[in-house]
Amino acid sequence: MSDQKRIPQHVAIIMDGNGRWAEMRGKERSEGHIAGVEPVRRSLRAAVRHGVKFLTLYAFSTENWGRPTAEVDALMELFCQSVVNETPELVRQGVEIRMIGDRSRFSPKVQEHLARAERQTARGETLTLILALNYSSRDEITRAVRHIARQAADGAIVPEQIDERTICEALDTAAFPDPDLIIRTSGEQRLSNFLLWQASYAELWFPEVLWPDFTEEDFDRAMEEYARRDRRFGLVSK
Ligand code: FPP
Repeated sequence: MSDQKRIPQHVAIIMDGNGRWAEMRGKERSEGHIAGVEPVRRSLRAAVRHGVKFLTLYAFSTENWGRPTAEVDALMELFCQSVVNETPELVRQGVEIRMIGDRSRFSPKVQEHLARAERQTARGETLTLILALNYSSRDEITRAVRHIARQAADGAIVPEQIDERTICEALDTAAFPDPDLIIRTSGEQRLSNFLLWQASYAELWFPEVLWPDFTEEDFDRAMEEYARRDRRFGLVSK
């Protein structure tokens, strides 16, 4: 395998453990989320250094609306502040911001901040940072099925023409390759409705570290772990 093959093109992260990190310190859960911004910067730096081209971060799931209002409001404020504050540095690093998820549920203010960050970083060519916001796989697949059913009802496609590609193209991730590596911090070992279609052949890695404590060295360890994996895609080893 060439060195190039040993570097994942697309890394996706379930940033878990902010709440526990805060509770262990007697702080509000939202303080755990604030502490979760620095490891986003660290991961981005490490991903650029390794030559990763796509980094997806699970920042807010469709289920997260069920959290206490104060926590949801704090997260919305944090997303707005972070994209405004970080955009100049992202432009400098050549990072393009994109989103997956149903953004129509966000307030007009949040939608405007996200859209502006996408516009301002659109020329970035070093790495694409994909924020999963109001995202869940089942919701994404449901919206995709609705879209394909509408095409069929309009006579634009016949059901027999529907193949894996039709589905890939109807998903929020149509413009991106599947993740090669999915990391979930905090020791939990599940995907929690994240990229279920796209994760078919992804390698999974579950470090114990809580997200606010995730370092560049942890990202380096993930790269080392990935390089050791034997990806067969249903075939046999060479
Ligand atoms: C999961 O931990 C984390 C979240 C739901 C929010 C993630 C948000 C950030 C890391 C803020 C910064 C992000 C960006 C993109 C600027 P949890 O609250 O479920 O933790 P717990 O399982 O310990 O309760």
